[in-house]
Amino acid sequence: MDVGDARHRLILALQMAYSGELGAIHAYIGHRRALKRARHAEDRTLIARILLDEFRHRRSVGRMLAELGAAPDPRRERKMTRIGKTIACLCRFGGWYMPMYGAARLERDNVVEYEIAAQLAHAANTPEYVDELLELAEVEWDHELWLRERSQSHWMWKVTPGWQPPPPRATIRERFETWRSTPDAEVATRRSWPR
Ligand SMILES: [Fe+2]
Ligand SMILES: [Fe+2]
Repeated sequence: MDVGDARHRLILALQMAYSGELGAIHAYIGHRRALKRARHAEDRTLIARILLDEFRHRRSVGRMLAELGAAPDPRRERKMTRIGKTIACLCRFGGWYMPMYGAARLERDNVVEYEIAAQLAHAANTPEYVDELLELAEVEWDHELWLRERSQSHWMWKVTPGWQPPPPRATIRERFETWRSTPDAEVATRRSWPR
């Protein structure tokens, strides 16, 4: 992949991530609101903490887009706002379990997306973003773990389809280094763990 292609794909990946964070923010606001103050104080604190991370992520990714001379995609912004608000609304009726379970599953994909973005940043000759993008992947890894552990405490965990948990947190940077030191390694394209 040449530098121009990588830069183009990096911008697309960042636009997706930027709007994805917006969807997540709407969903988590709804999720937190749906948790009863007295019964779910700890979960409310957890969601508030994650929410704060998502705001930070959106700020970081927005800054990268601006530095790359790009802007958020308005259509994607609208779409993710719609999706986020729909999830927020479902949280009011979905009980405790489904929002926790659904969020954990989505966070899993976020880890992969930021790992791929880090590879693209390297390929696009903007290595200054690599560390920050890997850190975003690591924080999403934490989110997946926290939400999955909460979901696992519910009896419904045993009767809903599970997923392969992400590989250990430390492998995020190991994978990147292996990829970087492999001559002619392709940037990962799929929603699977980058090789
Ligand atoms: Fe995030
Ligand atoms: Fe997250």
